Amino acid sequence: MEFAKVLQHRRAIRHFNADPISVNTLHSIVAAAQQAPSWGDSQPWRVTIATGDTLVRIKAAHQKRAQAGVTGNAELAPTNPVWPAASRHNTQEWSTGIHHFLGAQADHLDASQATLFNAPVLVYLTIPQGSPVWSVYDLGAFGQTLMLAAADYGVDSMPAYELVKYPDIVRQFTELPADQLLVMGIALGHRQADRLNDYPAGRTDTHQILTIKD
Ligand SMILES: Cc1cc2nc3c(=O)[nH]c(=O)nc-3n(C[C@H](O)[C@H](O)[C@H](O)COP(=O)(O)O)c2cc1C
Repeated sequence: MEFAKVLQHRRAIRHFNADPISVNTLHSIVAAAQQAPSWGDSQPWRVTIATGDTLVRIKAAHQKRAQAGVTGNAELAPTNPVWPAASRHNTQEWSTGIHHFLGAQADHLDASQATLFNAPVLVYLTIPQGSPVWSVYDLGAFGQTLMLAAADYGVDSMPAYELVKYPDIVRQFTELPADQLLVMGIALGHRQADRLNDYPAGRTDTHQILTIKD
């Protein structure tokens, strides 16, 4: 797919249909993500993918806890970060915008989180415990490359804190090694026709975030 089309195709998908993704395609997407750059080619990333029975168990445990209103406790950082003013403004704009866009269906947003977006595949990204902060940068590049590679394969994606907010559940069912830090989760699948997937999240005017000095 042409790069501009890949970029345009990738957007946060919050409701997937039941179509599976083949192991071969998953392997190819992860192999493409490995082209991401990293400090000194350290390649700190490790990938654990949940499908099948493992996924069913994770979803059941997650839904039960989310519906009970249990606060998340992700391993990377606290749940409610204190955002600088500009980021806080953007986050509020997004939240107001999507709730307004969904109208009477706004409660589908919470339901989508509790059900882990109905995704047929969950990808967990980890780095060794005690890694330098630079490795988090590298893992972010890996995650974005993975999502763009997925788009190129016609696979949709959803990067979400929701997927890692109960790390003990992920650890229990994926048997994640104790020496790995669970950083981020990305759901993969194919988008269901649903208004939840149609909200065009805005972006700040480029002039506001760009300085070119000559
Ligand atoms: C680190 C990170 C965590 C996120 N966590 C969630 C989440 O828990 N739930 C959710 O609905 N969206 C989550 N998102 C998706 C963002 O809301 C989304 O990427 C943003 O609004 C921009 O929209 P777009 O991806 O469609 O361009 C997360 C995105 C990132 C990068």
